Amino acid sequence: MIPLAAPHLAGNEARYLQECVDTNFVSSVGPFVDRFETLVAERAGAAHAVATNSGTAGLHAALLAAGVSRDELVVVPAFTFIATANAVSHCGAVPWLLDVTPTDWTLDPEQLARAFERETRRDGGSLVHAASGRRVAAVLPVHALGAPADMDPIVALARAQRVPVVADAAAALGSLYRGEPPGALGADLSVFSFNGNKTVTAGGGGAVVGADAALCDRVRHLTTTGRRGDDYTHDVVAFNSRMTNLQAAVGCAQLEQLDVLVAAKRRIAGRYDEALADAPGVSLFPRASWAQSACWMSGVRVGGVPELVERLVERGIGARTFWKPIHLQPPYREAPREPLPVSEAIWAEILALPCSAGLTPEDQETVIEALRGCLVR
Ligand SMILES: Cc1ncc(COP(=O)(O)O)c(C=O)c1O
Repeated sequence: MIPLAAPHLAGNEARYLQECVDTNFVSSVGPFVDRFETLVAERAGAAHAVATNSGTAGLHAALLAAGVSRDELVVVPAFTFIATANAVSHCGAVPWLLDVTPTDWTLDPEQLARAFERETRRDGGSLVHAASGRRVAAVLPVHALGAPADMDPIVALARAQRVPVVADAAAALGSLYRGEPPGALGADLSVFSFNGNKTVTAGGGGAVVGADAALCDRVRHLTTTGRRGDDYTHDVVAFNSRMTNLQAAVGCAQLEQLDVLVAAKRRIAGRYDEALADAPGVSLFPRASWAQSACWMSGVRVGGVPELVERLVERGIGARTFWKPIHLQPPYREAPREPLPVSEAIWAEILALPCSAGLTPEDQETVIEALRGCLVR
Protein backbone atom coordinates (compact mmCIF):
# COMPACT_ATOMS: atom_id res chain seq x y z
CA MET A 1 0.00 0.00 0.00
CA ILE A 2 1.30 3.48 -0.85
CA PRO A 3 0.33 5.33 2.35
CA LEU A 4 -1.51 8.65 2.42
CA ALA A 5 0.81 10.60 4.74
CA ALA A 6 3.44 8.55 6.57
CA PRO A 7 6.27 9.96 8.68
CA HIS A 8 9.65 10.39 7.00
CA LEU A 9 12.31 9.67 9.63
CA ALA A 10 15.57 10.15 7.76
CA GLY A 11 17.52 12.43 10.12
CA ASN A 12 18.74 12.28 13.72
CA GLU A 13 15.59 10.68 15.19
CA ALA A 14 17.19 7.40 16.35
CA ARG A 15 20.33 9.13 17.66
CA TYR A 16 18.33 11.66 19.69
CA LEU A 17 16.04 8.97 21.10
CA GLN A 18 19.08 6.97 22.19
CA GLU A 19 20.37 10.14 23.86
CA CYS A 20 17.13 10.34 25.90
CA VAL A 21 17.64 6.77 27.10
CA ASP A 22 21.33 7.33 27.82
CA THR A 23 20.66 10.49 29.85
CA ASN A 24 17.49 9.15 31.52
CA PHE A 25 15.51 12.18 30.29
CA VAL A 26 12.39 10.46 28.96
CA SER A 27 9.60 12.44 30.61
CA SER A 28 8.18 15.94 30.36
CA VAL A 29 11.32 17.88 31.18
CA GLY A 30 14.59 17.57 29.32
CA PRO A 31 16.91 19.33 26.94
CA PHE A 32 15.03 18.25 23.81
CA VAL A 33 11.81 19.87 25.08
CA ASP A 34 13.66 23.17 25.52
CA ARG A 35 15.32 22.85 22.14
CA PHE A 36 12.06 21.87 20.47
CA GLU A 37 10.38 25.00 21.83
CA THR A 38 13.24 27.20 20.62
CA LEU A 39 13.15 25.62 17.15
CA VAL A 40 9.36 25.86 16.82
CA ALA A 41 9.36 29.51 17.91
CA GLU A 42 12.10 30.28 15.39
CA ARG A 43 10.44 28.49 12.51
CA ALA A 44 7.00 29.90 13.35
CA GLY A 45 8.31 33.46 13.57
CA ALA A 46 7.09 33.81 17.16
CA ALA A 47 8.80 34.98 20.34
CA HIS A 48 7.60 32.10 22.55
CA ALA A 49 6.57 28.46 22.16
CA VAL A 50 5.07 25.94 24.58
CA ALA A 51 5.28 22.25 23.67
CA THR A 52 2.23 20.06 24.36
CA ASN A 53 1.41 16.39 23.97
CA SER A 54 -1.01 17.00 21.07
CA GLY A 55 -2.30 19.77 18.89
CA THR A 56 -5.74 19.29 20.43
CA ALA A 57 -4.35 19.83 23.95
CA GLY A 58 -2.52 22.90 22.65
CA LEU A 59 -5.71 24.34 21.17
CA HIS A 60 -7.61 23.66 24.39
CA ALA A 61 -4.99 25.38 26.57
CA ALA A 62 -4.64 28.26 24.10
CA LEU A 63 -8.40 28.93 24.10
CA LEU A 64 -8.53 28.87 27.91
CA ALA A 65 -5.51 31.15 28.15
CA ALA A 66 -7.19 33.53 25.67
CA GLY A 67 -10.14 33.75 28.07
CA VAL A 68 -12.69 31.33 26.58
CA SER A 69 -15.13 30.09 29.25
CA ARG A 70 -18.15 27.85 29.62
CA ASP A 71 -21.24 28.66 27.47
CA GLU A 72 -19.41 31.19 25.30
CA LEU A 73 -19.06 31.08 21.50
CA VAL A 74 -15.92 30.62 19.44
CA VAL A 75 -16.04 31.29 15.69
CA VAL A 76 -14.81 28.16 13.85
CA PRO A 77 -14.89 27.29 10.14
CA ALA A 78 -17.17 24.31 9.46
CA PHE A 79 -14.53 22.87 7.13
CA THR A 80 -11.90 21.61 9.57
CA PHE A 81 -10.80 18.53 11.45
CA ILE A 82 -13.05 17.65 14.40
CA ALA A 83 -10.26 18.52 16.88
CA THR A 84 -10.75 22.26 16.25
CA ALA A 85 -14.36 22.10 17.42
CA ASN A 86 -13.56 19.62 20.19
CA ALA A 87 -11.03 22.01 21.71
CA VAL A 88 -13.82 24.60 21.95
CA SER A 89 -16.12 22.02 23.57
CA HIS A 90 -13.41 21.01 26.05
CA CYS A 91 -13.59 24.62 27.33
CA GLY A 92 -17.35 24.16 27.82
CA ALA A 93 -17.85 26.66 24.98
CA VAL A 94 -19.73 26.21 21.70
CA PRO A 95 -18.41 26.56 18.14
CA TRP A 96 -20.21 29.17 16.02
CA LEU A 97 -19.76 27.68 12.56
CA LEU A 98 -18.92 29.88 9.59
CA ASP A 99 -18.14 28.94 6.01
CA VAL A 100 -14.88 28.93 4.07
CA THR A 101 -14.27 30.74 0.80
CA PRO A 102 -14.58 28.82 -2.47
CA THR A 103 -11.21 30.18 -3.56
CA ASP A 104 -9.00 29.04 -0.67
CA TRP A 105 -11.12 26.81 1.62
CA THR A 106 -10.28 28.83 4.74
CA LEU A 107 -12.49 31.01 7.02
CA ASP A 108 -14.46 33.51 4.94
CA PRO A 109 -13.62 37.05 6.20
CA GLU A 110 -16.59 38.59 4.39
CA GLN A 111 -19.03 36.24 6.05
CA LEU A 112 -17.29 36.94 9.38
CA ALA A 113 -17.81 40.67 8.84
CA ARG A 114 -21.50 40.12 7.99
CA ALA A 115 -21.99 37.78 10.95
CA PHE A 116 -20.47 40.30 13.36
CA GLU A 117 -22.54 43.09 11.87
CA ARG A 118 -25.90 41.34 11.70
CA GLU A 119 -25.80 38.70 14.43
CA THR A 120 -24.03 40.42 17.31
CA ARG A 121 -24.36 43.44 19.56
CA ARG A 122 -21.94 45.08 21.95
CA ASP A 123 -22.72 44.71 25.62
CA GLY A 124 -20.31 46.61 27.84
CA GLY A 125 -16.87 45.30 26.95
CA SER A 126 -18.19 42.18 25.23
CA LEU A 127 -19.35 41.13 21.80
CA VAL A 128 -22.57 39.17 22.25
CA HIS A 129 -24.31 36.83 19.81
CA ALA A 130 -27.78 38.37 19.77
CA ALA A 131 -29.87 35.22 19.24
CA SER A 132 -28.27 33.14 22.01
CA GLY A 133 -27.04 35.88 24.32
CA ARG A 134 -23.64 34.16 24.43
CA ARG A 135 -20.39 36.14 24.48
CA VAL A 136 -18.21 35.69 21.39
CA ALA A 137 -14.99 34.79 23.18
CA ALA A 138 -12.56 34.08 20.31
CA VAL A 139 -12.13 33.65 16.57
CA LEU A 140 -10.41 30.41 15.57
CA PRO A 141 -9.36 30.42 11.89
CA VAL A 142 -7.80 27.24 10.50
CA HIS A 143 -4.83 27.14 8.12
CA ALA A 144 -6.42 24.27 6.19
CA LEU A 145 -4.32 21.71 4.28
CA GLY A 146 -1.16 23.61 5.24
CA ALA A 147 -2.25 26.89 3.62
CA PRO A 148 -2.74 29.98 5.78
CA ALA A 149 -6.17 31.55 6.18
CA ASP A 150 -6.56 35.17 4.99
CA MET A 151 -5.39 36.51 8.34
CA ASP A 152 -5.17 40.28 7.69
CA PRO A 153 -8.94 40.89 7.42
CA ILE A 154 -9.78 38.21 10.01
CA VAL A 155 -7.42 39.72 12.61
CA ALA A 156 -8.62 43.25 11.79
CA LEU A 157 -12.28 42.27 12.31
CA ALA A 158 -11.52 40.50 15.58
CA ARG A 159 -9.32 43.36 16.87
CA ALA A 160 -12.05 45.90 16.07
CA GLN A 161 -14.36 43.91 18.36
CA ARG A 162 -11.62 43.24 20.95
CA VAL A 163 -12.03 39.49 20.44
CA PRO A 164 -8.86 37.36 20.66
CA VAL A 165 -7.69 35.24 17.73
CA VAL A 166 -6.33 31.73 18.22
CA ALA A 167 -5.17 30.18 14.94
CA ASP A 168 -5.32 26.45 14.28
CA ALA A 169 -2.06 26.17 12.36
CA ALA A 170 -1.95 22.38 12.80
CA ALA A 171 -0.21 21.60 9.51
CA ALA A 172 1.03 25.05 8.52
CA LEU A 173 4.64 25.05 9.68
CA GLY A 174 6.68 25.96 6.60
CA SER A 175 3.90 28.03 5.02
CA LEU A 176 4.05 31.78 4.39
CA TYR A 177 1.29 34.40 4.33
CA ARG A 178 2.33 37.56 2.47
CA GLY A 179 5.89 36.47 3.16
CA GLU A 180 5.38 35.92 6.90
CA PRO A 181 5.56 32.60 8.79
CA PRO A 182 2.43 31.25 10.50
CA GLY A 183 3.27 32.40 14.04
CA ALA A 184 3.61 36.04 12.93
CA LEU A 185 0.21 36.71 11.39
CA GLY A 186 -1.42 38.70 14.19
CA ALA A 187 -3.15 35.88 16.07
CA ASP A 188 -2.73 36.06 19.84
CA LEU A 189 -1.76 32.40 19.82
CA SER A 190 -1.18 29.86 17.03
CA VAL A 191 -1.20 26.12 17.52
CA PHE A 192 0.69 23.43 15.59
CA SER A 193 0.25 19.67 15.55
CA PHE A 194 3.12 17.19 15.37
CA ASN A 195 0.87 14.18 14.90
CA GLY A 196 2.24 11.27 12.86
CA ASN A 197 0.47 12.37 9.68
CA LYS A 198 1.94 15.89 9.72
CA THR A 199 4.89 17.05 7.61
CA VAL A 200 7.06 17.16 10.74
CA THR A 201 6.07 14.82 13.54
CA ALA A 202 7.05 14.19 17.13
CA GLY A 203 5.21 10.87 17.09
CA GLY A 204 2.42 12.95 18.57
CA GLY A 205 2.53 16.43 19.99
CA GLY A 206 1.69 20.07 19.59
CA ALA A 207 3.02 23.55 20.21
CA VAL A 208 1.40 26.86 21.07
CA VAL A 209 3.26 29.97 19.92
CA GLY A 210 2.72 33.67 20.51
CA ALA A 211 4.31 37.07 20.95
CA ASP A 212 3.03 37.79 24.46
CA ALA A 213 5.19 36.23 27.19
CA ALA A 214 2.47 36.41 29.86
CA LEU A 215 -0.09 34.72 27.60
CA CYS A 216 2.34 31.94 26.69
CA ASP A 217 3.22 31.52 30.39
CA ARG A 218 -0.49 31.03 31.06
CA VAL A 219 -0.56 28.26 28.41
CA ARG A 220 2.50 26.65 30.02
CA HIS A 221 0.90 26.88 33.46
CA LEU A 222 -2.34 25.28 32.24
CA THR A 223 -0.48 22.40 30.57
CA THR A 224 1.68 21.78 33.67
CA THR A 225 -1.05 20.99 36.24
CA GLY A 226 -1.31 24.63 37.33
CA ARG A 227 1.71 24.07 39.54
CA ARG A 228 3.19 26.98 41.53
CA GLY A 229 6.65 26.15 42.87
CA ASP A 230 7.80 22.73 44.06
CA ASP A 231 5.64 22.18 47.12
CA TYR A 232 2.56 20.66 45.42
CA THR A 233 0.68 23.95 45.26
CA HIS A 234 -1.65 24.13 42.22
CA ASP A 235 -3.66 27.32 41.84
CA VAL A 236 -6.09 26.33 39.05
CA VAL A 237 -7.76 23.18 37.75
CA ALA A 238 -5.32 22.43 34.94
CA PHE A 239 -3.95 19.63 32.77
CA ASN A 240 -1.04 17.31 32.36
CA SER A 241 -0.48 17.93 28.66
CA ARG A 242 3.23 18.66 28.34
CA MET A 243 5.32 17.07 25.61
CA THR A 244 7.84 14.46 26.75
CA ASN A 245 11.56 14.61 26.03
CA LEU A 246 11.14 11.44 23.91
CA GLN A 247 8.58 13.15 21.67
CA ALA A 248 10.66 16.31 21.54
CA ALA A 249 13.75 14.30 20.52
CA VAL A 250 11.90 13.09 17.42
CA GLY A 251 10.42 16.55 16.94
CA CYS A 252 13.86 18.23 17.00
CA ALA A 253 15.26 15.79 14.45
CA GLN A 254 12.23 16.45 12.24
CA LEU A 255 12.42 20.24 12.60
CA GLU A 256 16.06 20.11 11.47
CA GLN A 257 14.62 18.68 8.22
CA LEU A 258 11.68 21.09 7.92
CA ASP A 259 12.85 22.80 4.75
CA VAL A 260 13.65 19.50 3.04
CA LEU A 261 10.33 17.96 4.07
CA VAL A 262 8.26 20.98 3.02
CA ALA A 263 10.12 21.15 -0.30
CA ALA A 264 9.26 17.49 -0.89
CA LYS A 265 5.60 18.16 -0.05
CA ARG A 266 5.50 21.11 -2.45
CA ARG A 267 7.15 19.07 -5.19
CA ILE A 268 4.57 16.31 -4.76
CA ALA A 269 1.67 18.80 -4.84
CA GLY A 270 3.14 20.47 -7.92
CA ARG A 271 3.48 17.14 -9.73
CA TYR A 272 -0.16 16.22 -9.03
CA ASP A 273 -1.27 19.65 -10.25
CA GLU A 274 0.76 19.30 -13.43
CA ALA A 275 -0.27 15.70 -14.14
CA LEU A 276 -3.96 15.99 -13.30
CA ALA A 277 -4.89 19.52 -14.45
CA ASP A 278 -6.45 18.16 -17.65
CA ALA A 279 -7.93 14.96 -16.19
CA PRO A 280 -11.68 14.63 -16.86
CA GLY A 281 -13.90 16.11 -14.13
CA VAL A 282 -10.92 17.10 -11.99
CA SER A 283 -10.08 20.47 -10.46
CA LEU A 284 -6.99 21.23 -8.42
CA PHE A 285 -6.60 22.20 -4.77
CA PRO A 286 -6.76 26.00 -4.33
CA ARG A 287 -3.56 28.03 -4.24
CA ALA A 288 -4.26 31.47 -2.73
CA SER A 289 -2.19 34.19 -4.40
CA TRP A 290 -1.22 35.70 -1.01
CA ALA A 291 0.05 32.44 0.44
CA GLN A 292 2.73 29.87 -0.06
CA SER A 293 1.17 26.68 1.21
CA ALA A 294 3.23 24.13 3.11
CA CYS A 295 1.23 21.60 1.02
CA TRP A 296 0.60 19.26 3.92
CA MET A 297 -2.17 17.41 2.08
CA SER A 298 -2.30 16.79 -1.65
CA GLY A 299 -5.17 15.69 -3.81
CA VAL A 300 -7.80 16.85 -6.26
CA ARG A 301 -11.43 17.90 -6.31
CA VAL A 302 -13.56 15.44 -8.25
CA GLY A 303 -16.98 13.75 -8.17
CA GLY A 304 -17.59 10.19 -6.96
CA VAL A 305 -14.90 10.23 -4.27
CA PRO A 306 -16.08 7.20 -2.23
CA GLU A 307 -16.01 4.96 -5.32
CA LEU A 308 -12.64 6.35 -6.40
CA VAL A 309 -11.21 5.69 -2.95
CA GLU A 310 -12.49 2.12 -3.07
CA ARG A 311 -10.96 1.47 -6.49
CA LEU A 312 -7.65 3.12 -5.63
CA VAL A 313 -7.35 1.20 -2.35
CA GLU A 314 -7.97 -2.02 -4.32
CA ARG A 315 -4.91 -1.02 -6.36
CA GLY A 316 -2.77 -0.50 -3.26
CA ILE A 317 -3.09 3.28 -3.15
CA GLY A 318 -3.92 4.87 0.19
CA ALA A 319 -6.30 7.53 -1.14
CA ARG A 320 -8.93 8.86 1.28
CA THR A 321 -11.96 11.05 1.65
CA PHE A 322 -11.27 14.22 3.64
CA TRP A 323 -12.74 16.23 6.57
CA LYS A 324 -16.49 15.91 6.90
CA PRO A 325 -17.64 19.41 8.03
CA ILE A 326 -18.33 19.98 11.70
CA HIS A 327 -22.09 20.61 11.40
CA LEU A 328 -22.53 17.14 9.85
CA GLN A 329 -20.89 15.47 12.86
CA PRO A 330 -23.36 14.14 15.47
CA PRO A 331 -21.96 16.13 18.44
CA TYR A 332 -22.28 19.42 16.52
CA ARG A 333 -25.63 19.08 14.68
CA GLU A 334 -27.14 21.75 16.92
CA ALA A 335 -24.18 24.16 16.81
CA PRO A 336 -25.13 27.71 15.76
CA ARG A 337 -24.10 28.43 12.20
CA GLU A 338 -24.17 30.78 9.27
CA PRO A 339 -24.96 29.44 5.77
CA LEU A 340 -22.31 26.84 4.85
CA PRO A 341 -22.66 26.21 1.09
CA VAL A 342 -18.94 25.97 0.34
CA SER A 343 -18.12 23.56 3.16
CA GLU A 344 -21.04 21.41 2.05
CA ALA A 345 -19.99 21.48 -1.59
CA ILE A 346 -16.29 20.77 -1.27
CA TRP A 347 -15.94 18.11 1.40
CA ALA A 348 -17.55 15.27 -0.52
CA GLU A 349 -15.46 16.10 -3.60
CA ILE A 350 -12.03 16.12 -1.99
CA LEU A 351 -9.91 13.13 -2.89
CA ALA A 352 -6.77 13.06 -0.72
CA LEU A 353 -3.86 11.37 -2.46
CA PRO A 354 -0.62 9.85 -1.12
CA CYS A 355 1.73 12.69 -0.27
CA SER A 356 4.24 11.46 2.30
CA ALA A 357 7.46 13.47 2.12
CA GLY A 358 9.18 10.16 1.33
CA LEU A 359 6.88 9.32 -1.61
CA THR A 360 9.12 8.30 -4.52
CA PRO A 361 8.57 9.79 -8.00
CA GLU A 362 7.86 6.24 -9.23
CA ASP A 363 5.17 5.68 -6.62
CA GLN A 364 3.64 9.06 -7.41
CA GLU A 365 3.46 8.14 -11.10
CA THR A 366 1.74 4.88 -10.07
CA VAL A 367 -0.85 6.93 -8.15
CA ILE A 368 -1.37 9.30 -11.09
CA GLU A 369 -1.77 6.48 -13.62
CA ALA A 370 -4.16 4.57 -11.36
CA LEU A 371 -6.30 7.66 -10.81
CA ARG A 372 -6.37 8.48 -14.51
CA GLY A 373 -7.39 4.86 -15.17
CA CYS A 374 -10.24 5.10 -12.66
CA LEU A 375 -11.43 8.42 -14.13
CA VAL A 376 -11.85 7.12 -17.69
CA ARG A 377 -13.62 3.93 -16.69
C1 LIG B 1 -6.79 21.23 11.45
C2 LIG B 1 -6.37 20.38 12.60
N1 LIG B 1 -6.59 20.82 13.84
C3 LIG B 1 -6.21 20.12 14.92
C4 LIG B 1 -5.58 18.89 14.80
C5 LIG B 1 -5.28 18.14 16.04
O1 LIG B 1 -3.95 17.85 16.25
P1 LIG B 1 -3.52 16.57 17.09
O2 LIG B 1 -3.86 15.36 16.29
O3 LIG B 1 -2.06 16.75 17.28
O4 LIG B 1 -4.28 16.61 18.39
C6 LIG B 1 -5.31 18.40 13.50
C7 LIG B 1 -4.64 17.14 13.22
O5 LIG B 1 -4.50 16.16 13.73
C8 LIG B 1 -5.73 19.15 12.38
O6 LIG B 1 -5.53 18.72 11.14
